[in-house]
Amino acid sequence: MDERRAAGYPFIPTDVIPPIVERAEGCTLVFSGGREVIDAGGGAVAVNIGHGRSEVADAMAAGARRVSYAIPPWVTEDRIALVELLRDRWLPPELSRVGLVSGGSESVDTAIRLAFTHFGALGQPDRWKVIGREVSYHGTTMASLSVSGHRARRQGFEGVLTDHPKMPVADAEALEKIIDLEDPATVAAVIAEPVIGAAAGALVPPDDWWTDVRAICDNHGILLIADEVMTGFGRTGRRFGINHWGVVPDILVGGKGLSGGYAPLGGVYATEKVVEPIAAAGRGLMFFTFSASPGACAAGIAALGILDDEDLVTASATKGETFLARLRAIEAHPHVSEVRGLGLMLGVELVADKATGAPYLPDGGMAARVVAEALERGVWVYPAGDGTAPDALLIGPPFTITEEEMDTVVTVVGEAITEVCGD
Ligand SMILES: Cc1ncc(COP(=O)(O)O)c(C=O)c1O
Repeated sequence: MDERRAAGYPFIPTDVIPPIVERAEGCTLVFSGGREVIDAGGGAVAVNIGHGRSEVADAMAAGARRVSYAIPPWVTEDRIALVELLRDRWLPPELSRVGLVSGGSESVDTAIRLAFTHFGALGQPDRWKVIGREVSYHGTTMASLSVSGHRARRQGFEGVLTDHPKMPVADAEALEKIIDLEDPATVAAVIAEPVIGAAAGALVPPDDWWTDVRAICDNHGILLIADEVMTGFGRTGRRFGINHWGVVPDILVGGKGLSGGYAPLGGVYATEKVVEPIAAAGRGLMFFTFSASPGACAAGIAALGILDDEDLVTASATKGETFLARLRAIEAHPHVSEVRGLGLMLGVELVADKATGAPYLPDGGMAARVVAEALERGVWVYPAGDGTAPDALLIGPPFTITEEEMDTVVTVVGEAITEVCGD
């Protein structure tokens, strides 16, 4: 493809011509002209089974051929088969209600509406607040952005975003205080990512944080929403991130890895306790036109089948340990404060001054520059970070990544950091 055509693609015009991806196979993206790039970001941390799986593409085509479109509340074979598969093999047994949507933001948006509708049906319409974390990302619709603590992505919309309370990232006692301050009778839900992704770069909470938060929510009759859009479907080395802490949320949302990145697909999963009052009140939740698209559901079934058949969730755990150990070499760099993560969700945090831990200036765009430099050198990693830690890299490759590819990623990311940040 010639670059002039590509330059017409961006919605908001820019001087930078976006990469032109011609093909993708395994962990490799093939750019225009045949240049190969290792997809160590798994796109936007979505590609878990690897690119170019023809069985998924075939399943999608067959699904779309069977039923191109039917309104989301109606049943198709692919829809019910995906719901059954999720219930039987993936979700914690308590989360038996399954609602399908087209992506992560939609799933968070729906979870918020579900929580409000739950309390509305119980005669508690004053419970409208959703407590999020100061550093977090839950999506880009107005509702999901409202509960997000992502300064850069909220910028310019603050005036219209709902002012939901935010809690510190890793301090369960502070949550208790915020609930008291806000008045527990006004709080519908707490939402958090098991491991913070885009806003922090694979930040893992302290060991007892999730159990403490669960207990606090229970004490106040508040619903707990786990946002597993990035961590779900094996990314952290368990089926869901929350499994690391043995906690069952009232609502869990996911997207990305559910279809391996092959189709727009997300889900909202809830306990009977959450949906029962809604059903009893004869209420429902409005769908999105493209929720549970039959072709996307077929992709989901095929992707989940591959994850299981090839034991890729275990691979994410074991390869994640190997990758993290090798990536630790980068921690010696004078501008890397920490290398961290769980499974194949790994993060590298960059700082201006390692001795004091001082970050780069918030708008300096250092992570974006390192990402661009690594891309030049043949490796894609995902830019992350915000607020007090504005510069981080997220590494979330397909679970099929080889050790050789891991080594290349470590070398290239190290070189890119040295090039951009100096040594
Ligand atoms: C934790 C989390 N929640 C929600 C979203 C939004 O998902 P989507 O981009 O599919 O709308 C993301 C996207 O990165 C995410 O990481």
